[in-house]
Amino acid sequence: MNYITTPIYYASGDPHLGHAYSTLLADARRRYGKICGAPSRLLTGTDEHGQKIAGVAERESIPVQDFVNRRSDVFLKLWDDLEIDCEFVRTTNQNHVAFVQICWQRLIEKGDLYAGEYTGEYCVECEQFLNGIEVCPIHNIPLDTVSEKGYFFRLSKYQDALLEHLTQHPEFITPKSRYEEALAFVTGQPLQDLCVSRGSTSWGIKVPDDPDQVVYVWLDALLSYVSVLNPTWQEGTWDVQSTSVFAEAEHFIGKDILTFHAVYWPAILLALDLPLPTALRVNGWLTVEGQKIAKSNPATIVNPLRLAEQYSLDGLRYYLLSCTVGGQDINFSEQQLASAVNNVLANSVGNLIGRCAGLLSRNWPDGVHKPVEEPEFALAVLAKRDQAFAGIDDLFNSGDVSRACRVCFEFAGTLNTFFQNNAPWHKQGKEQAASLWWFHGFLQDLTILLSVFTPQLSQRGRRVLNLEEPALIENRFDPGEERRRLADKTGPLVTKV
Ligand code: MSP
Repeated sequence: MNYITTPIYYASGDPHLGHAYSTLLADARRRYGKICGAPSRLLTGTDEHGQKIAGVAERESIPVQDFVNRRSDVFLKLWDDLEIDCEFVRTTNQNHVAFVQICWQRLIEKGDLYAGEYTGEYCVECEQFLNGIEVCPIHNIPLDTVSEKGYFFRLSKYQDALLEHLTQHPEFITPKSRYEEALAFVTGQPLQDLCVSRGSTSWGIKVPDDPDQVVYVWLDALLSYVSVLNPTWQEGTWDVQSTSVFAEAEHFIGKDILTFHAVYWPAILLALDLPLPTALRVNGWLTVEGQKIAKSNPATIVNPLRLAEQYSLDGLRYYLLSCTVGGQDINFSEQQLASAVNNVLANSVGNLIGRCAGLLSRNWPDGVHKPVEEPEFALAVLAKRDQAFAGIDDLFNSGDVSRACRVCFEFAGTLNTFFQNNAPWHKQGKEQAASLWWFHGFLQDLTILLSVFTPQLSQRGRRVLNLEEPALIENRFDPGEERRRLADKTGPLVTKV
């Protein structure tokens, strides 16, 4: 089972392109699991508690539960519009609330929580205690100084175990630079116990047996990755078996929330005797003129739906998935998006599939049969095809979705070059039929890979190539097979913008 998660997004405003980017990366990973034939789940959702959200709802004079209901619906609708097949968790959901309270009680019983007082800085935008600095490095805003009662989680107790886990599993966090960052955090300082409740806001999950405190929004949110795995949490139950798939979890996160996922979250899981996730896949930020796209900076906001409508969903997916290198930030460019649609999706890939299918349907309406000979070009393409499939598999296993996407489109480029050089339109009779038989087979493979990155193009391609079996790697082109290869009537596969 592949269990893929995105961060659960704050329900404090509308989703923007940065959220869509994160979710599309994770969705590509889920789709890859699907073509491998493995059951795959994708979890996303909304993070609905905390001081920030309570504050926004109050400023807009909307009861906070109504406010988060509306916001959450907008996220849910966006994922539907972007054709992302996901499960959706909400932290105000009663089942999740019950699970958080059960975990709290377990941590108390274990002696891992104690009452204390927090005095220091707090960034409301990050919902993070940030001691010793005055301005938030992410939001560039002055921090609040707070002094309040709270419960502390004994993070210090888990420092050695965290270090051991990180040292033994260098593959736990990708890219490597983020692994090193997390390792430096755990080795570089004695870990301070973490404040995990708040007394100065009431919008949160009540701490059991202490009505003045609510669970810190990050502890609440992280637990959603597990709470959703069992829909029937009840006080007094600890049905760990039902959550066993969590051990397969791959968390897709932005670099801004690395410490929460690489340090605090594993420590909490260790304290709860739950397994640790398999991997953290850390992406950089999408920026506009060098500034992080963020609700707190309205000039950077880009609406993903507008882009999907204007440039096609595949165009948006391809642009976002292919353009990052090594988890670094990327500066969003609408011009590059448009040129990706025209040059790569329409001129190169769409045109290639369209031309091959067009020749087949016009000249060979009854299809073409396996030729007797295996021409040299076919052997060369087969080798490239095998390389592409193996490379993409390695890249998904090491969490590099962007490079996997580029390898897929490089393979498309290679096919295009071979098609150009082979020029089946200049060939006659059997010779043409033979070429087309091979290219049809290679395009079958291409459409399997495209279903991960540009699913609509893949679907249209498979329709015109008359490919009925599901797009699975196990259904890839087998040059030993005798099957008759057919195409349907075609039209343009990608509309230019
Ligand atoms: N609610 C927490 C996460 C809790 S997970 C248990 C949170 N939410 S958030 O709404 O601020 O979104 C966080 C994530 O959204 C980032 O980590 C990142 O994955 C994604 N992004 C938000 N803005 C982004 C960009 N500008 N660029 C890339 N990703 C962006 O933190």
